Amino acid sequence: MAKIQQTFVCQSCGAVYNRWRGRCEACNGWNTIVEEAVSAGSQTGPAATRPSRARGRVFPLEGLTGEAREAPRVPCGIAELDRVTGGGFVRGSVLLIGGDPGIGKSTLLMQACAALAFQGERVAYISGEEAVGQVRLRAERLGLADRAVELAAETNVEDIVETLSQGRPPALVVIDSIQTMWTETVESAPGTVTQVRGSAQALIRFAKTTGTAVILVGHVTKDGQIAGPRVVEHMVDAVASFEGDQGHHFRILRAMKNRFGPTDEIGVFEMTGSGLAEVPNPSALFLAGRDHAAPGTAVFAGMEGTRPLLVEIQALVAPSSLGMPRRAVVGWDPNRLGMVLAVLEAHGGVRLGTHDVYLTIAGGLRVSEPAADLAVAAALVSSLSGAALPPESVYFGEIGLSGAIRPVSQAPARLKEAKKLGFARALMPQGRGEEAERGLSAESLRHIGELVAGIAAN
Ligand code: TYD
Ligand code: MG
Repeated sequence: MAKIQQTFVCQSCGAVYNRWRGRCEACNGWNTIVEEAVSAGSQTGPAATRPSRARGRVFPLEGLTGEAREAPRVPCGIAELDRVTGGGFVRGSVLLIGGDPGIGKSTLLMQACAALAFQGERVAYISGEEAVGQVRLRAERLGLADRAVELAAETNVEDIVETLSQGRPPALVVIDSIQTMWTETVESAPGTVTQVRGSAQALIRFAKTTGTAVILVGHVTKDGQIAGPRVVEHMVDAVASFEGDQGHHFRILRAMKNRFGPTDEIGVFEMTGSGLAEVPNPSALFLAGRDHAAPGTAVFAGMEGTRPLLVEIQALVAPSSLGMPRRAVVGWDPNRLGMVLAVLEAHGGVRLGTHDVYLTIAGGLRVSEPAADLAVAAALVSSLSGAALPPESVYFGEIGLSGAIRPVSQAPARLKEAKKLGFARALMPQGRGEEAERGLSAESLRHIGELVAGIAAN
């Protein structure tokens, strides 16, 4: 029997202390430290069970051939999902998918399992949260109940690994969710950081030794982080987050970390009565229901990874009765808004200091590109002046503190997408006009003042 040792572990970042304290020094979280019992020597390494054959062996980098050189992938055929993983799940790798409860993680992964099973691969879906009957009901609702997916309602990692090791190794194993798993090597209660880390470690080892692609579902805390196991994010090969607004039907799967592919890709889905449907043309979805005649809206030609995405930016500027006017932002960086407001005031002659400002990205999307500055500025000026922007125009460009409009990446892709969706005019930074699409006039702006003057002249 291993020696039991009491430790105090921060449930938010995994820092370990030898006595209790109110505040974690590593992550500054209050009341996050919980006493956990750990059998000595078990939680930090798989050393005891690691096969010793390859220990200390070295391989020449240039001599690696075949499988070792290129990550062997298993595409599931759901194009939006394969895009995010970089072309398919990588054999022997572990992907962590986080997301709010009820967003559709289990639905998406059941659909992925069913698609792979249809290709004749061995796939297993392990649920620690639902009974087999409930999982089956969902599959029935998705019209996938006849697929050869192995289901299990199990939470003990050793049992799971033992069961899956029989027969041919599975191509894909889904663990829903990692917070419900527990391993016998650790004495703490399920859901604690030590348990989650220990279970993840065992599953990662299983993935590496059998060449199975493992997907771990992770719960998300109120502030959007994958609950507890930040440490797990460092252990796995890829992390993706499944986002969306309960009030909207669309969902976005966003790659956050990927050892085998791009990290800025997104996959767009729509939640329907029979599961998640792919959205191959998201710009059309995000622009649907646009009110062309409304002042304060501008279309931003953005990029999400390698994919252009047009979204509508809405601004409302109204005289304020408060000493300190309100600035409320949904879907964009509030600091960035503050900067655009300051530049408009200092270099564009636009006085917004006594106005409340509300800014939102239509459809509940989150935009993080500085290239949205110009579209935000256009929406603000349009709302203040009460004049709608020309409906056939798109905007993109970064605004510098001097008021200069600075070039942004991938202008040709943005213009192409705008053209495809029927826009005739793009207001953009200088110097990229030569790449303009035929049938779309590209007007380059040097300074924020030109934007303001252009809107005033309308
Ligand atoms: P679920 O996959 O259980 O979410 P998670 O695993 O992320 O907690 O999905 C839950 C929601 O999705 C639930 O509110 C019902 C809805 N849903 C549909 O709208 N259509 C469907 O076909 C399915 C299966 C679920
Ligand atoms: Mg679920």
